Amino acid sequence: MSPEKNVALADQADRHLWGHFSSLGRSVDGMPIIERGEGCYVWDNHGNRFLDGLAGLYTTQAGYGRTELAQAAGAQAEELGFFPIWTYAHPKAIELAARLASMAPGDLNRVFFTSGGSEAVESAWKLARQYFMLTGEPSRTKVISRNLSYHGTTMGALSITGLAAVKGPFEPLVPGAIKVPHTDTYRLPAHAKDESYFAEEIEQAILREGPETIAAVFLEPVQNAGGCFVPPDGYFDRVREICDTHGVLLVSDEVICAYGRLGKMFGSERLGYQPDIITSAKGLTSGYAPLGAMLVSDRLAEPFAGTDEQFLHGYTFAGHPVSCAVALANLDLFEKDDLCGNVMANEANFRASLDDLLDLPIVGDVRGMGYFYGIELVKDRDTKESFSYDEGQRLIRGFLSLRLAELGLICRADSRGEPVIQLSPPLIAGPDEFEVMNQVLRQTLTEAMAEMEKT
Ligand SMILES: Cc1ncc(COP(=O)(O)O)c(C=O)c1O
Repeated sequence: MSPEKNVALADQADRHLWGHFSSLGRSVDGMPIIERGEGCYVWDNHGNRFLDGLAGLYTTQAGYGRTELAQAAGAQAEELGFFPIWTYAHPKAIELAARLASMAPGDLNRVFFTSGGSEAVESAWKLARQYFMLTGEPSRTKVISRNLSYHGTTMGALSITGLAAVKGPFEPLVPGAIKVPHTDTYRLPAHAKDESYFAEEIEQAILREGPETIAAVFLEPVQNAGGCFVPPDGYFDRVREICDTHGVLLVSDEVICAYGRLGKMFGSERLGYQPDIITSAKGLTSGYAPLGAMLVSDRLAEPFAGTDEQFLHGYTFAGHPVSCAVALANLDLFEKDDLCGNVMANEANFRASLDDLLDLPIVGDVRGMGYFYGIELVKDRDTKESFSYDEGQRLIRGFLSLRLAELGLICRADSRGEPVIQLSPPLIAGPDEFEVMNQVLRQTLTEAMAEMEKT
């Protein structure tokens, strides 16, 4: 793109584009404008190349520039550019629903499409409520989720979200969204007996609130916000048991963890538990078109089946034919390229390339699974002393985010809990990309330590 066009674009972005979770009035000039992609790499409008260590936003599983997906979208747009799934159906939504049901664990045989992840989470809470209304337990309206967790931005999903910082301006939110501890085994609370504490806290919350008031527990297989918290052994077995004991539904929010991110099609499959609902989005289309899907067990669909009872909920664009066609072509790529197999074969290698950074005193913990890792940064590794809030901001916003981008690596440097760097590359990545990530991270973190020494 010509220099004049670049300036014009940056000006227009500054004036008109309202970036998500972005500051307005801060020149977009300093922010990359991403123009094209190929494989694991993207290029900005100045021709700079970046390794996309975050797969867009945990989304581009099959990588960039896949003509199969572009062609599937184009062919579908020509044949049927749009039709809703309100009282109608179209072939691609039907085929995709059947295909997802055949892949999903257990009896998750019913698929409710949405346009994205927040809508899938919103739909799950609403379905749980209407299900209990229909089955004679209308007082089951509340939901439980974990501190720091992110489940989306619509009012219901935001209420389930456990990040105070993004909720404040929108209070009062939907009542009845209870929070329990996230599974930070690196910083097990002093009062916790052992790691069984995390699951037991869920039962305590259910008992405190009254089991007859709780509809569902919403959990990610590996929690993203806070930095890839992997559950301790036995966590989900115990959570499943607690949910069954108290008649509570288990919703596995797999908006990030489904579609190969943890090395299996579903995160719950990788961790070996059976949810009542899976919420998913992002990687379903590798991001080439927007689509979310809520996968529901036969038991939950039962009160609606063969009756006049409708789930009173829907979205115009949910199950869009172009998105469904792209999702089907994407699932073909999963098979053809064995994307899950690639993750399983390479995850140890990926982890080793990050563990290699543990000699840097700023690296406190490396945690995650599959192609989904977080690196927690600390002030003192021996004592696990954290950076103060201001220091964390200086480290993340003032230094790391800019420097990583300068060195050509897109990843997430975040301080919603402790400062963490998160990595989640396209599922086609392998040793060459791990090597680049390792080198850029080593250089950046080494510089960051010197930066933090300055007062
Ligand atoms: C676990 C989880 N749930 C829900 C969402 C919301 O998805 P969306 O941004 O597609 O609405 C996200 C987004 O990152 C997520 O990570």
